[in-house]
Amino acid sequence: MNKRIILAITGASGAVYGRRTLQALAAEGVELWVSISDAARVIIRNELGMNLERDNPDLGKFAGVKDVKYVSPHCAEAPPASGSFPVDGMAIVPCSMSTLGAIASGHGDNLIHRTADVTLKERRTLVLVPRESPLSAIHLENMLRLARAGAIILPASPGFYHGPRSVDDMVDFIVSRVLDAFGVENSLVRRWGR
Ligand SMILES: Cc1cc2nc3c(=O)[nH]c(=O)nc-3n(C[C@H](O)[C@H](O)[C@H](O)COP(=O)(O)O)c2cc1C
Repeated sequence: MNKRIILAITGASGAVYGRRTLQALAAEGVELWVSISDAARVIIRNELGMNLERDNPDLGKFAGVKDVKYVSPHCAEAPPASGSFPVDGMAIVPCSMSTLGAIASGHGDNLIHRTADVTLKERRTLVLVPRESPLSAIHLENMLRLARAGAIILPASPGFYHGPRSVDDMVDFIVSRVLDAFGVENSLVRRWGR
């Protein structure tokens, strides 16, 4: 059976990471449920030059994908809000410090926070791709707290040992590691030793 993964895009810089993760997971046949925060739509407009509708964004136009389900972060009763909804896990790419803090405190107020909370309590894979620099002690403590609770903290901090020649290569380095975390085979980057 194909994997089913929830992908949230939040309002940290690096919207391109979210878009590329969406494309790569869809290309590998993963069933995707996508949610985009209000702040992420602002970042997407700034960084990718696209205006996405709040409740029904055109993901085909955004990422060239089709048959991807969209759930509004404001829809509290969407299927991912419940642990009884069977999924393999959730990725938040990129993950803002605001969303990270909400999850770390257990005090979320939207569907993205709730779904991350559910993912942790159900002991499923939760991958967070934070992007902030420098990091405050609060950011670091929140990340440590989440790592201890089982989340995979995968900073948007690309390596250079695969010989990137473009921004896309650097983005793919991170996206490849996100797919690896879910056991989704991919050949987005040349791997060390191969
Ligand atoms: C231009 C711009 C860039 C931002 N970049 C970041 C960032 O890199 N990392 C971050 O944690 N927050 C960043 N923020 C702040 C978040 O967008 C803000 O905290 C927002 O409330 C996050 O909401 P969300 O977590 O619901 O998406 C940025 C905001 C703006 C306007």
